[in-house]
Amino acid sequence: HSADAHRTDLMTITRFVLNEQSKYPESLGDFSILLNHIVLGCKFVCSAVNKAGLAKLIGLAGETNVQGEEQKKLDVLSNEVFIKALVSSGRTCILVSEEDDEATFVEPSKRGRYCVVFDPLDGSSNIDCGVSIGTIFGIYMVKDGHEPTLNDVLQPGKNMLAAGYCMYGSSCMLVLSTGSGVNGFTLDPFLREFILTHPEIKIPKKGKIYSVNEGNAINWDGPTAKYVEKCKFPEDGSSAKSLRYVGSMVADVHRTLLYGGIFLYPADKKSPNGKLRVLYEVFPMSFLMEQAGGQAFTGKQRALDLVPTKIHERSPIFLGSYDDVEEIKALYI
Ligand code: AHG
Ligand code: MN
Ligand code: MN
Ligand code: MN
Repeated sequence: HSADAHRTDLMTITRFVLNEQSKYPESLGDFSILLNHIVLGCKFVCSAVNKAGLAKLIGLAGETNVQGEEQKKLDVLSNEVFIKALVSSGRTCILVSEEDDEATFVEPSKRGRYCVVFDPLDGSSNIDCGVSIGTIFGIYMVKDGHEPTLNDVLQPGKNMLAAGYCMYGSSCMLVLSTGSGVNGFTLDPFLREFILTHPEIKIPKKGKIYSVNEGNAINWDGPTAKYVEKCKFPEDGSSAKSLRYVGSMVADVHRTLLYGGIFLYPADKKSPNGKLRVLYEVFPMSFLMEQAGGQAFTGKQRALDLVPTKIHERSPIFLGSYDDVEEIKALYI
């Protein structure tokens, strides 16, 4: 078997998706074209993140978004790049971004059948200190022919066709599911192609890590407080879990997916719906977790069953290893 360095059978993300596409004979390659434009956006953000400090791309943009957050220059830049890339793909009809108050309805001449919900830059608080950040996206498909309306994106996460994230860390990794498993692709800096490096990712059934912002403990509800207590002081004599919290959802979820464990962003007295946004943070990560053999729970129901009523709606979320999420479900239900 030839050394990896001279591997000749390169499985790029484009080739991988085309292989997937061949399972749907009626497909016209539209999804592959859409994905290629998402990949273009990720490559752009990856290069912008890598030179942020040098290119004066850190710091504030001087505006505030609908979330009431001060927008960073990279938030605004990444958002513009993804919006333009997705519109120019000619395969989208509605776009929802964390950074835009309203949904974007693509003009008829450039319209396609896909709706993309995305967080162009996740973990903005970590930009200026160089800690891993990411992009998160989910894809719905509209039924043929009708004039697109917001209802086409106010769909439960279980209706998503695909979901993924790109993490801008020590390497640039794109993790994707099109509904039959989860695969990880690493950007080869020389080829500038995403190469399949993590085929068929499966999350360990149970993990040794819990990931939550302990600084909110004073405001947690009973079940969350009880669960975290159990992580730290196990009653059954097992060893305590380790705490790992980056503060970028993409980084915390990526570690949870590969190592196992549980990620929590619970509700608290100040924010009864938690902080994370349903369409472009909770749904894509929950979709990936289920596809990898884990699960995702809101404190009341399976996360992917939630039916959003507003595009920037928030929800509490507990996601990760199957057995770990079962434990917190038992405390809520
Ligand atoms: P964004 O930067 O896209 O607004 O998302 C930030 C989110 C998410 O990345 C992370 O899990 C969470 O904020 C961290 O929130 P706290 O700082 O409140 O823990
Ligand atoms: Mn934000
Ligand atoms: Mn985010
Ligand atoms: Mn963001």
